[in-house]
Amino acid sequence: MSALQGRHILLGITGGIAAYKSAYLCRRLKDKGADVWVSMTKNAAHFITPLTMETLSEREVLLEVFPANRYVGTRHIDISDWTELAIVAPATANFIGRYANGLADDMLTTLLISVTAPVMLAPAMNTDMYNHPAVQENMQRLRSRGVHMVDPTVGLLACHTVGVGRMAEPETIVAAAEALFAVPTGHDLAGKTILVTAGPTIEPIDPVRVITNRSSGKMGYAIAQAAQERGAQVILISGPTMLSAPPGVEVVHVETAQEMYNAALARFDSCSAAIAVAAVSDWRMSHPETHKLPKADGPPQLHLEPTPDILAAMGARKQRGQFLVGFSLETDPARLDSAAKLRSKNLDLLVANNPTAPGSEFGSDSNDALLIDRAGQVDRPGLLTKRELAHRVLDRLAAVPASQHA
Ligand code: C5P
Repeated sequence: MSALQGRHILLGITGGIAAYKSAYLCRRLKDKGADVWVSMTKNAAHFITPLTMETLSEREVLLEVFPANRYVGTRHIDISDWTELAIVAPATANFIGRYANGLADDMLTTLLISVTAPVMLAPAMNTDMYNHPAVQENMQRLRSRGVHMVDPTVGLLACHTVGVGRMAEPETIVAAAEALFAVPTGHDLAGKTILVTAGPTIEPIDPVRVITNRSSGKMGYAIAQAAQERGAQVILISGPTMLSAPPGVEVVHVETAQEMYNAALARFDSCSAAIAVAAVSDWRMSHPETHKLPKADGPPQLHLEPTPDILAAMGARKQRGQFLVGFSLETDPARLDSAAKLRSKNLDLLVANNPTAPGSEFGSDSNDALLIDRAGQVDRPGLLTKRELAHRVLDRLAAVPASQHA
């Protein structure tokens, strides 16, 4: 059975000659069992008719934000919620520019700005357009937000030149979509219980002010979700984030480092692995104020103390068969003595990342990290989506025989 069976795919078509291939792409997605809903830009309709797409997709084609004489309410939100993958093929230079800049000036861009599911673009344009710095910059911005690109190929273009810019073949786009939904290694984590810490902690200064770290929680949630999809039983201990709980994952909500410590240590002994992704505050007030510190009293002297190191505590208790992963974040890579950190916290794997590296910014959907193991081997996978990096980390956990864990 195809990984696309029963999946809800929003297929966007923009105004380029490669739009003639979008009909076949729609057909192939339907053959794989996907439910396809097409949205076309006004310019796309110059190249291929909505009737063609309507007939193939067996759904009304989405053309207008405000179709004449019809109440539509929040239809763009309903359709975005329905979407499990959005594919835009072909994606023109103009569309890429509008999307990269967050515009919502037609139905397709309005849908895409509300889609939270993965988005995949198949760019297609003349070689000079494709190589223009503005287009390249826009694509890089989209990549760093986690948008998947099915790169164009080199070949004869409609302008009779030969170069890069031909839209990837529909079969290639379908394969890329299948790969996105496919769980790479089946249920290889079945029978394991995996504890994940995620998000920031917040430490009260007084009832109003807090000490916290910048953290969206996206990396930890991606790991929790990926582990659940691979068959593990997952306990996600999360500081405050804007994210919704991944389906099938037990979530324990905490605020302070102490609460996260208590929740993690109470469960760690019965887990096969723990992955500490949380951005735990390093300091807290020795004695948080019970009343709001008056601003008029001037800047206060804060007496801080270190928070308990949750990961180091799990490392100290680790038994044979348990696998422990830590994340490390330094804005100055020279400061990162990964081997020392790995040893001092008794880790099996350290994932080192730098939020100032392109594509790895706070809140982004991608991450350019290094995976360092106990043997000192360094894996540099390059810029990956957080979902891809999550699977990379889980591959390591799944690959090591239990007898080798220290
Ligand atoms: O030592 P450093 O803070 O760089 O280590 C980062 C790793 O340790 C992360 O995996 C983080 O989740 C974990 N950590 C922890 N408890 C702390 C501080 C960090 O679990 N108090």
